[in-house]
Amino acid sequence: MKQLTENQLLDNWNKLLQLVEDTFEGERKERLLEMYKFFEDRMIVAPASGKEEYHYCYAGGYVNHVLHVCETALEVSKTYEKVGGYKDWTDEELIFSAMHHDLGKVGDLIGEYYIPQDNDWRRKTLGEIFTHNTEIDNMRVTDRALFLLQHFGVKVNLKETLAIKVSDGLYDEANTYYMKVFDASRSLKNHMPYIIHWADHMATQAEFDEWKREDEDNKEEMESRLSNIKNISVGKKEPKKKQKDKVLESKHQDLFDELFGDKK
Ligand SMILES: [Fe+2]
Repeated sequence: MKQLTENQLLDNWNKLLQLVEDTFEGERKERLLEMYKFFEDRMIVAPASGKEEYHYCYAGGYVNHVLHVCETALEVSKTYEKVGGYKDWTDEELIFSAMHHDLGKVGDLIGEYYIPQDNDWRRKTLGEIFTHNTEIDNMRVTDRALFLLQHFGVKVNLKETLAIKVSDGLYDEANTYYMKVFDASRSLKNHMPYIIHWADHMATQAEFDEWKREDEDNKEEMESRLSNIKNISVGKKEPKKKQKDKVLESKHQDLFDELFGDKK
């Protein structure tokens, strides 16, 4: 597992705070800084996902991922315009949404979302470095993000709300209500939510590639562990047809988890 030094952790944290300073102003900036102050100790070391082969599963992975998605969103937004898209959002709205799309992963006011996995078998066999803290309320990551922003009195406009809400795109079934509509009058009225989803998806996939590249000497071992993890099945045998459906279902879930780090 990747390990950041204390200096790297602080360096990333300062980059995030600097981005808040440079992007926002007035009351919104003040409220955001208060929120970041509240979460400082927890956010600096939060991972972006819980399993080793998912994206940025290490202490400090959350801040690193957020910075990565902000940078990617700016690039995707430019590319969108370049290829003929209409940009109906400001860079502030874009960075705000990218910066907070995974805010729910730092947990809530009571405790963190990810806690170290203390089950040795699950750590070694499934690569579960972190597990979910069941002491806090069960909420989707994006819903918790929006809850936390309102709790700290940070104003979130409609475009930003929708962009955070649907940042997992169609990997989250709940988003079909917004993204899979067949009546043009009900479709998203601006396309920033797509930019945020594409940026998160792209950054996450690149982070997976980075993980695979990270240690060329251990690449074979890492890939074989990845394949073992995916082939593990626990429980009773089911009738053939059902088993096939289950495998397909599980593959879809694996793909989602692989890309977004098992958001709940
Ligand atoms: Fe993300």
